[in-house]
Amino acid sequence: MNDMNTLILSDSDSDLRRAAEILKNGGLCAMPTETVYGLAGNALDSGAAAKIYAAKGRPSDNPLIVHISELSRIHDLVTAFPDTAEKIFKAFSPGPVTVILPRSHKIPDATSGGLDTVGIRLPADKRARKLISLCGFPLAAPSANLSGSPSPTSAEHCIRDLMGRVDCIIDGGKCAVGVESTVLSVDRDGDVTVLRPGFVTYNDLASLLGEEHVRLARGITERVDEGEKVLSPGMKYRHYAPDADIAIIDGSREQFECFVNSRRDEGAFALIFGDENVQLPAVKMGLTSEEQAHLLFDVLRHLDDIGAKRVYARCPRKTGVGLAVYNRLLRAAGFEVIKL
Ligand code: TXA
Ligand code: MG
Repeated sequence: MNDMNTLILSDSDSDLRRAAEILKNGGLCAMPTETVYGLAGNALDSGAAAKIYAAKGRPSDNPLIVHISELSRIHDLVTAFPDTAEKIFKAFSPGPVTVILPRSHKIPDATSGGLDTVGIRLPADKRARKLISLCGFPLAAPSANLSGSPSPTSAEHCIRDLMGRVDCIIDGGKCAVGVESTVLSVDRDGDVTVLRPGFVTYNDLASLLGEEHVRLARGITERVDEGEKVLSPGMKYRHYAPDADIAIIDGSREQFECFVNSRRDEGAFALIFGDENVQLPAVKMGLTSEEQAHLLFDVLRHLDDIGAKRVYARCPRKTGVGLAVYNRLLRAAGFEVIKL
């Protein structure tokens, strides 16, 4: 699409200053955060927001998350800041959580995808916060992948998807968390709906606010139809779609082994936790949910690199951080689950 030259920068202070100059001139920068890399531009500039959608190939009704460098910056960006929202930020940020609130006039339509709300995130990654404060304005940043491909958890992933499409990419190594932030909305009564599960879990929120005040949105573990009205536009798009055709195999370890070992399809791979006994070529996603979250997107890209045609994946746990892993894998699998 574009043919711009993309600078590859380090995360040194002087390179962060170069990136900030680019952003101040309306340019785009892929930046590391603790969750995944973000494709950043000035959140208050509709021109920059339009460029983000174009660089990603993203539908323009899917709103961008706005990143701030300190909590006090939120007041200009929203028209209401309920106690519950403040409590959530104080408990879990800087960190991997995004809170959706009514947006102020400072946030242009282009940034919010035409919605009257905005998702605000205060990232834990110090380089991201430093970059935002050097800019002096908040940064809109969706995940720095091409729309439809797995979110980037390393600079290499960004380079593959975005060379020639952004002005610079900051190489900050691998992301610590590896799945995107927990996205939640807070209603007028202070009740919370989790729209996208992440490293801040249902239990974390329930312990803070009481179980009766937290619910999980329906789209997290079920398909919602394209035409259906959803709380979060991102829910209706098929994300993280690798070339390989993935099926989640939901059963005990023994059932999984038995199922997989009866398969002989060309180009078939098993996606396992660790030491399952399988006869197909296998790729590991890690034993704990945290490890799986950290590795998942890299593993999905790797499966394409090695030419996997069909992938039989062990079913991640559906609780704690595991719910975030399950939610992403479910989308990569186009919701194909084989229940044993
Ligand atoms: O961890 C993250 O959240 C990363 C890093 C870069 O911060 N960002 C990220 O952004 O994952 P993105 O755009 O790939 O995913 C944001 C999700 C989308 O599904 C979008 O629909 C939803 O959050 N979202 C954003 N603003 C919203 C709003 N105002 N109302 C409802 N959903 C919103
Ligand atoms: Mg994304």
